[in-house]
Amino acid sequence: MRKKLLAGNWKMHKLRGDTKSFFESLFQSSPFSKISSSNVEIAFGVPATSFETALLATQNKGVKILAQNCHWETQGAFTGELSTAMLQDIGLFGSIIGHSERRQYFAETNANVGKKWNALANSGLLPVVCVGETKSEREQNQTTSVVRQQIDEALSQVTEEARKRDFVVAYEPVWAIGTGLTATPAMAQEVHAFIREELAKTLGKERAEKIKILYGGSLNPANAKELLSQPDIDGGLIGGASRKVDDFSKLIEIALSF
Ligand code: PGA
Repeated sequence: MRKKLLAGNWKMHKLRGDTKSFFESLFQSSPFSKISSSNVEIAFGVPATSFETALLATQNKGVKILAQNCHWETQGAFTGELSTAMLQDIGLFGSIIGHSERRQYFAETNANVGKKWNALANSGLLPVVCVGETKSEREQNQTTSVVRQQIDEALSQVTEEARKRDFVVAYEPVWAIGTGLTATPAMAQEVHAFIREELAKTLGKERAEKIKILYGGSLNPANAKELLSQPDIDGGLIGGASRKVDDFSKLIEIALSF
């Protein structure tokens, strides 16, 4: 059975003090106290300025800290970038890559997402690879072709060896991110099952069955139960609701019920 993964994505939010107090109160919440012997895993993608604070605050708590982006080269003249070696060196568990905001505002391409995936896997870090269609692509019935292209073009940059390493896919319909709109459980399940079939074509069915596919896009305590009960939805990549301890602990409580 695949464990459920709740991965927060804080985006460009929280100073170090906020990070510290967030984790202090999360760890006092009753749902959190039940996760150690459960099938629920927790991770947070935090801003680089909070890496160290988050790592110290979550020591021995089983919470994984992720970056929200990385560069694929080990080092070099790439002003403002962080390599996977740097992320690994500070003690992170992995990185979100290919988030739609990075694709939209920072011209991230499928090929670059693939190079980042490859670099993360080679550094022993977990790639959390985001895919998803825009509103107009969905309206033109292009959802599956867009998602297929995002996966295939990224995978083409990942070596055979790196493909064997664990990774997570996050399906995030762009029109649902930060808008309060959510894909219906049936809509999301359909795309998740499609992603798993696509992965099976390249990696084999047995392996594809083990890959976690998260849903993202206005996931919150009111809609999580139905979404997370879908057979191919293995957790969530959560923006807004991951920044509030109350909401996030309610999400943990829901994930614990499966
Ligand atoms: P949201 O963000 O939950 O605020 O919609 C999700 C994401 O962007 O990963």
